[in-house]
Parts: sequence; structure tokens; C-alpha cells
Amino acid sequence: MSTLPNRVEHQLTDKGYVPVYTTAVVEQPWASYSETDHTTWATLFARQQDVLPQRASRTFLDNLARMAMHGDAIPKFDELNIALRKATGWELVGVEGLLPELTFFDHLANRRFPVTWWIRKPEQLDYLAEPDLFHDLFGHVPLLMEPVFADYMQAYGRGGVKAHGIGGDALANLTRLYWYTVEFGLIREPEGLRIYGSGIVSSKGESIHCLESQAPNRIGFDLRRIMRTRYRIDTFQKTYFVIDSFEQLIDATRPDFAPIYAELAMQDSIPAGDVLESDQVFNRGSGEGWAHDGDV
Ligand SMILES: [Fe+2]
Repeated sequence: MSTLPNRVEHQLTDKGYVPVYTTAVVEQPWASYSETDHTTWATLFARQQDVLPQRASRTFLDNLARMAMHGDAIPKFDELNIALRKATGWELVGVEGLLPELTFFDHLANRRFPVTWWIRKPEQLDYLAEPDLFHDLFGHVPLLMEPVFADYMQAYGRGGVKAHGIGGDALANLTRLYWYTVEFGLIREPEGLRIYGSGIVSSKGESIHCLESQAPNRIGFDLRRIMRTRYRIDTFQKTYFVIDSFEQLIDATRPDFAPIYAELAMQDSIPAGDVLESDQVFNRGSGEGWAHDGDV
């Protein structure tokens, strides 16, 4: 008798939400999605279709259309994989929730992208404490269709395996790079700043906030600067970093990071909202609404 994959979520304790990790790769139990699950997908999809034109990167929007991901029902991983394998050789694998770091890096290093199979509940449309199917699929997968970005993701996975072996702050440095690019990155396009980070494109509120609010900093990409910068996990970001192109990302990950980690170990981390004299500033944040503690 086969059993359905588990839905593994953070647990609420007296210390707040505590992540729970799982390592299983599972078949997407597509037939088990409820009407409510499909409606949640449809609602989130439609909201982002309204918000993202003129805000998301052209590359993201073009690839979203190419994937034929639509809002009628939760997509089937197997069907998306046909287009994805053909475009860049990546494939989606179903997972039950958050993965331990090394497991996650190993998937990326082998061009497998782990996608949480379950979707948030209707009362969590605007926020949940961990990635779900909408974040993973809608947020991350369109850019995996783009060859340069797809290579960057693999390079990141390989870098993660190495950083895990180095220990110390290497992983924290590398995680910040992922956070400020893959999750919360902005890109400069001819028409203006646009979104490519998955944490933003999968959030209606942050899609508007990151570009239109005066509160956050918008600063030019700088590898070492990002690797030192702390971030927010419970509020909108205080700072967004802007790349000029996806080539800039892959070029930045070409050098061996080991000497960079050693160099950064001698320097303090930078609070999430600080602006440095050396920064290329697109917007100096007003800081309105910022929490004064809680950077991680
Ligand atoms: Fe993510």
C-alpha cells in the first residue's frame, strides 16, 4: 500500500516558528489536491498576473509564458519538466518541506530543483513562514528556463557543497548571496528596475513595495558587500540589490570563494538597512516602518 507524502511544516513553539527538515524526494500527489488547493493556486496566480507586468523582469515574464504555467489548476511537475529539461536540463523534484542545507545544495549542483508539493492554506495568501508550492513553482521555476540563470543556480549549489565543507561563516556568507539574488534580487532593464527574485515575485505586497516604496534601499550588486549583509526573514527587506544582467551573477560566482570567505571573516557583518559610502545607490531608503532588531 502506498502512502501519501507528508506535509512537513514549521512548528509553532514558545520560541516562535521552528523549521522542521525533511529529506525525502516524493512523487507529486496531484490527485490529492483539494478544490480549495486549486483555488488557492488560481487566486495567487491571478493576483500576480495583475501585479507583475511592468514590475517583473522581462526574462521572468517571457519564461513564465513559455512554460505554459497557468492559473486554472496546480501544474503537474511532470508536465513542467518536459519544457524545463528541453530548455536547460533542469528538473523539478517533489519534496515535503524544507531540506537540510547540504541536501538542498546537492540537488542544485545536479540541476534538480526541489519543489514543496503542498500549497498554503487560504488564510495564508499573504504570508507564511516557509516555502510552499506557490513560492517554489511560480517564484523559482520560470528563471530556471533561462540558460544563464540556470547555470548560476547550479554554480550556487556547487558553491554550497564547498562552503559546507569549509565551515565557519562561509555558509552564512553564501546564504546571503542567495537571499539577495535568487530570493530578493532586482535587475536593471531598459525600462527601469524590475524584479527577478522569487521571494518577491511570489508576494503581491513585496512586488509593489520593493519598487515603489521609498522605505527600502536599492543598491547596486556587489558580491563582497552582499556576503556581509544581514537580512530580514519576517518583514519586507530593508535593502534590495540590483544587478545589470544575469551574466553579472554568473561572472561573480566564477572565482573561488575560499579566499573571499577568509577575507570576510576579518570584517563585521553589515546591518540589513545600512548604506555604505562605497554603495552605488539607486534609492536611499527612508527607513519608514523598519523594525530596529531582528536582522538575521
Ligand atoms: Fe525560495
